[in-house]
Amino acid sequence: MSIVVENVSFSYGKKNPFGSMVLDRVNLKIESGEYLIIIGEVGSGKTTLIKHFNGLLKPLEGIVMVDGHKATSAHARKLVGMLFQYPQYQFFGKTVFDDVAFSVSNSGIDDKQLHEKLIESLKMVGLDENIALRSPFTLSNGQMKLAALASILAANPKYIILDEPFTGLDLINKKKLFKALAKLHDTGITIIIATHEIYYELPINSRTILMGMGKIIFEGNLEEYALSKHSQLSDVTLLMRELRRRGVDISENIFDVETAFEEIMNIKKVSIEHE
Ligand SMILES: Nc1ncnc2c1ncn2[C@@H]1O[C@H](COP(=O)(O)OP(=O)(O)OP(=O)(O)O)[C@@H](O)[C@H]1O
Ligand SMILES: [Mg+2]
Repeated sequence: MSIVVENVSFSYGKKNPFGSMVLDRVNLKIESGEYLIIIGEVGSGKTTLIKHFNGLLKPLEGIVMVDGHKATSAHARKLVGMLFQYPQYQFFGKTVFDDVAFSVSNSGIDDKQLHEKLIESLKMVGLDENIALRSPFTLSNGQMKLAALASILAANPKYIILDEPFTGLDLINKKKLFKALAKLHDTGITIIIATHEIYYELPINSRTILMGMGKIIFEGNLEEYALSKHSQLSDVTLLMRELRRRGVDISENIFDVETAFEEIMNIKKVSIEHE
């Protein structure tokens, strides 16, 4: 089972000023259960690409299939949940629960089961269960984003796509989201994240593709991306390398604060050379 993108090209009506397509013959296979990070500069085509995964956009050329069904088909669209960059546009009901009830109407789930599922999903993303009965429009930006994710989860998607999910979240909510995504991935849900900024709290071995001008220009895991010519080393990596250079017995490639902290706590003997 997988999302298969075959030779997909797309343009929004006119060709862009450089004469190329917004997506230019993209080929990609996302296996069920993967944790995929799609990185790329502003305007590189990330959102356009992921909108093809749930049939919101139809390729100009090529084809997108989800578990063997056309991505635009009703069957495929049920398998894929999408968290938009601006989740306020995802809500329209009086309460968060009303929105969820609407999104899964006709699926045969009764209100009680749905309510339980929503409560479970809210807890999963680190929100209080009373959010279910609040008007989505009274929530803060961060709460709204997490509540939108919980609403998507309540519909039991197999693939979850998140467009710039960390933008606008404070550190605490970012951490909640990193944790929720890890838990969801552990339950077998496929996670696909589009982001213009890299976060080293994401699993370092997760598959990472870099978009540039509508093409995939790098493919590897997050660590390989971090060490590639496409990325700059993070401050944490530079600090850890400096400590290592000065004689501290520490790994060379550490990218995030938490791992750095653990590594420092594990140092048996510190003998930093002062220069
Ligand atoms: N609705 C639209 N109509 C016309 N052009 C569009 C539309 N949406 C996006 N584009 C153009 O398509 C290109 C790719 O945009 P896209 O939103 O896919 O990029 P992105 O990588 O998601 O960028 P960001 O990091 O800013 O979210 C850009 O040149 C953008 O201006
Ligand atoms: Mg985008």
